[in-house]
Amino acid sequence: MTNFCSIDDVDDPVGWIQSAVELKKKIEQDGPFTKNGKSVCLLFFNPSLRTRLSMQKASFNLGIESFIFNLNTEGWQLEFGDGVVMNGNTSEHIIEAAGVMSSYFDAIGIRAFASLSNKQEDYQEKILSQFVKHCSVPVINMESATSHPLQSFADMITIEEYKKVDKPRVVLSWAPHPKALPQAVANSFLNWSNRMDYDLVLTHPKGYELDPGIVGNATVEYDQNKAFDGADFIYTKNWSAFNDESYGQVVSQDPTWTITPEKMALTNAAKFMHCLPIRRNVIATDGVLDHESSIVIAQANHRITSAQAVLQKLLNVK
Ligand code: CP
Repeated sequence: MTNFCSIDDVDDPVGWIQSAVELKKKIEQDGPFTKNGKSVCLLFFNPSLRTRLSMQKASFNLGIESFIFNLNTEGWQLEFGDGVVMNGNTSEHIIEAAGVMSSYFDAIGIRAFASLSNKQEDYQEKILSQFVKHCSVPVINMESATSHPLQSFADMITIEEYKKVDKPRVVLSWAPHPKALPQAVANSFLNWSNRMDYDLVLTHPKGYELDPGIVGNATVEYDQNKAFDGADFIYTKNWSAFNDESYGQVVSQDPTWTITPEKMALTNAAKFMHCLPIRRNVIATDGVLDHESSIVIAQANHRITSAQAVLQKLLNVK
């Protein structure tokens, strides 16, 4: 046979069915042919560099096969509503999509950012929660509407590696950005930092208050210079407004909040951190990013560490 374009290319259609039934039994007996016999699907509704590549590298390190699916551009448009008459733009329901993917893979990673237009839907995690509900295999959050735990796991590993005192002063500082960004990274950084033994400080302009339940025990300091005083780590991130009145909006682009060498000089020789991607000379200046105190590359490298740790624990592989 040279092509498989139609049944006319098949010499023995009935025989093929019998062979295929036997093949199915053999696949079930032999299992997948990767080192650990596992595979993961990495499903992206949004762009990525670090998350995608670190998950693939971590999978590779563990002998797990990873499959990338850019669902927004390559898949059917999914329906998430219950009982919807699907006579509009959506072609496939999450129930079937999650069921099929669960039958193919041992875990499913999801990246689905916040809409920033519907706070209730975002904070109910409309997309992630539907995958968790309908998948029969573990789901890995690769940045959802409100959290990015793989990033904060990597952040904590990085702080552990670089800290010089038992209880470092860790400052999460808002910085300006021209576009509205989700609160996910800041939320997860605060969530995980609140579980660590840090002197945790949050600094941002008025109007950028985050969910008090997530801010937890962090000290909120509206004066960025005061917040930086004595800091061991400066973690910078932009986020859009969380409050109901201006949810998802850019309410300030105040350039005096950009991280500069002068601001870093207020700290206790702090390490500079950012989850990346970063807009140079908007979030932080070249002088900060190119200084030896910047550990953003080491931080990004720990995305492999955190991804590998999560895959190992979820899939019980070594
Ligand atoms: N920090 C982070 O998640 O990077 P990507 O958006 O490139 O994956």
